[in-house]
Amino acid sequence: MKALVYHGPGQKAWEDVPDAAIQEPTDVVVRVDTTTICGTDLHILHGDVAAVTDGRILGHEAVGTVTAAGEAVKGFGVGDRVLVPAITKCGRCEYCQRGMPSHCQTVGGIGWIFGHLIDGTQAESVRVPYADTSLYAIPAHVTNEQAIFLADSLPTGYEVGVLAGQVRPGDTVAVVGAGAVGLSAILTTGLWGASKVIAVDTNKFRLDKALEFGATDAVEVGPNAAADVIALTDGLGVDVSIEAVGYPETLLTTASLVRPGGHIANIGVHGVPVELPMQEMWIQNVTLTMGLVDTVSIPTLLKMVASGRIPAEKMGTHSFTFDQMDDAYDVFKNAASNSALKVIITPA
Ligand SMILES: NC(=O)c1ccc[n+]([C@@H]2O[C@H](COP(=O)([O-])OP(=O)(O)OC[C@H]3O[C@@H](n4cnc5c(N)ncnc54)[C@H](O)[C@@H]3O)[C@@H](O)[C@H]2O)c1
Ligand SMILES: [Zn+2]
Ligand SMILES: [Zn+2]
Repeated sequence: MKALVYHGPGQKAWEDVPDAAIQEPTDVVVRVDTTTICGTDLHILHGDVAAVTDGRILGHEAVGTVTAAGEAVKGFGVGDRVLVPAITKCGRCEYCQRGMPSHCQTVGGIGWIFGHLIDGTQAESVRVPYADTSLYAIPAHVTNEQAIFLADSLPTGYEVGVLAGQVRPGDTVAVVGAGAVGLSAILTTGLWGASKVIAVDTNKFRLDKALEFGATDAVEVGPNAAADVIALTDGLGVDVSIEAVGYPETLLTTASLVRPGGHIANIGVHGVPVELPMQEMWIQNVTLTMGLVDTVSIPTLLKMVASGRIPAEKMGTHSFTFDQMDDAYDVFKNAASNSALKVIITPA
């Protein structure tokens, strides 16, 4: 089969690899019908994620069809259309039982294994460990183009941004970074009744998208961005400030927007140390949260996608086929100049 293989920082190739195959009785093999690229894949190609080594197939999001099932798998069979989420869970370890499968201990001690510790989903097929507890069946009327964003972006914006940030009715919320993850936070902040949602980004196209996705205000990054946001909150700062980029300067901006007693929710994947001004922050009674998504909100979000409450399909702006994988990465990497949000990648 063919797959997108990582060969060290800045290097990848769509090339021939051995077919995905069952290794454990709890595995299934899924033929990938739709996949996409995440900001985290760009961080990996940038060399920010040391655990990803030469030869690894990239990608941690897929919708596909089961083509083989191990003998212990009870809930899924050949032909089933499934969502392969970014997090794999055994369902039995201490973290899975605590509802925190992001730290499932069974495969490499972390729940994010695809395109990280084992081969990923930017491939014609993928082996899925712990299929029974990790996969989700997709209702017939939910399309692949809607379901694919439930694999990572939507639960990440919701869980690590909105839920961790404890958005409550009436809150003012800032979201720094309006990529798919930031936009997912914007979409789902509305579900909790935020009174004001301020999107902050360098990219005009994404700010326009943010307004379409439910932001009430958009602020383009520049020397006065923080002051502009604070002016929108009567000079107080926001109740919840969400970081969805992953750079030191964007976390500093995010932290500077919050009011006393507020909440800073970091979603971004960071590759270098960040120095926070604790000498100013300690007296503000703020909470800072961060973490890897658990994807435990998928059943909730799937219901809202299925009913039309969350227009997930709006995330996909460009479509490519597997043999155009390089073009898909180029468009996603240069999203600003391409008016791109998420790319949809299919076999043909
Ligand atoms: N914590 C988790 O579990 C988890 C899961 C998935 C993704 N992530 C991370 O979330 C972040 C966002 O992912 P994505 O897929 O939306 O990425 P993306 O690259 O599509 O979006 C990033 C956005 O940030 C904007 N941006 C860049 N520089 C900026 C700046 N200086 N100020 C303001 N905005 C700026 C870009 O224009 C873009 O709109 C990434 O760091 C990704 O690795 C975290
Ligand atoms: Zn991701
Ligand atoms: Zn587990």
